[in-house]
Amino acid sequence: MKILSIESSCDETAVAVCEGRRVLSSAVATQVEEHKIYGGVVPEIASRRHTEAISAVCDKAVKDAGITYSDIDAVAVTFAPGLIGALLVGVNFAKGLALSLSVPLIPVHHLRSHIAANYIDNDALKPPFLCLMVSGGNTILCEVSDYTSFKIIGGTTDDAAGECFDKTARAMGLSYPGGITMDKIATKSDFTKYPLPVPKSAGEYDFSFSGLKTAVINLIHNKNQKGEDIDVPVLAATVRERVCDMLISKTFSAVENLGYKTLAVAGGVSANSELRARIEEECKKRGMELFVPQLKYCGDNAAMVGVQAFYEHASGNVAGSGLNATATLPIDYR
Ligand code: KG4
Repeated sequence: MKILSIESSCDETAVAVCEGRRVLSSAVATQVEEHKIYGGVVPEIASRRHTEAISAVCDKAVKDAGITYSDIDAVAVTFAPGLIGALLVGVNFAKGLALSLSVPLIPVHHLRSHIAANYIDNDALKPPFLCLMVSGGNTILCEVSDYTSFKIIGGTTDDAAGECFDKTARAMGLSYPGGITMDKIATKSDFTKYPLPVPKSAGEYDFSFSGLKTAVINLIHNKNQKGEDIDVPVLAATVRERVCDMLISKTFSAVENLGYKTLAVAGGVSANSELRARIEEECKKRGMELFVPQLKYCGDNAAMVGVQAFYEHASGNVAGSGLNATATLPIDYR
């Protein structure tokens, strides 16, 4: 079954063609350079750029897959959660395409597709497993009991991990998206130089990052007022360490209490080199299986949407022409 999938929830216009877990093509038009000028994604600009790019990106994905539109068996699209105007571009394009090809339309939840990035070209991962989903807009810990069955056991009570990276990076004068930049320049020299608080949260498996974010912004503000320089690579490494401390302690507390032997990590922040290395070490210590997406599938892309769509379709999740985009929706909506 060849599925053409569309992703437009934020600032990447992406289209892929997949067959089960195999990716036949994956085309992405990124808007990052344009949003950099503003230090973050401007929703109105994002919608406009999706509208301009989507037809060409779709044609490219079909061509790269070595097929024609008549070979497509279903159209899948990210319908929630995300920037509403951006999502609407993909949803409406997908509805028109499915109608014109007379094929089913499959709605895909964005966070489910991030988790599915772990299935791409990899037959080893099968539910049940525990997943740490860390992106720019969401941070959750969930049990994946089946391909379309999820139970949230924890999540951030304030900012997402990626948001904490991006906002503290901006305060350090680093360009958007700050998480990637911080990861590149962070040097592990001296964590005592900037004694940042260790984030805490009340819920057993919950996360909190806003206190850390505020502490970093205040520290920079105080240094600036005194005319003192900031050692940005060291501060970046300290923030990264603190974020990883929180993610790792809660995740492995859940692993131990719930008895999981398989862990997956997903979302844009799963590209973080420190997080990957430390989680790998923890899993090795416990003799656990760890799955992390290939780096090219950590951020937003349509291949992960196509792979999740295969399972959504198998579970009977097919939409009609009344499908609408939704800005917020939990992963266990259905
Ligand atoms: O999953 P994603 O592409 O978009 C959302 O669905 O939110 O995640 C984007 C987030 C941004 O906050 C970005 O800074 C962060 O992922 N990110 C990273 C790294 N690469 C991307 N954060 C830390 N280290 C990285 N290497």
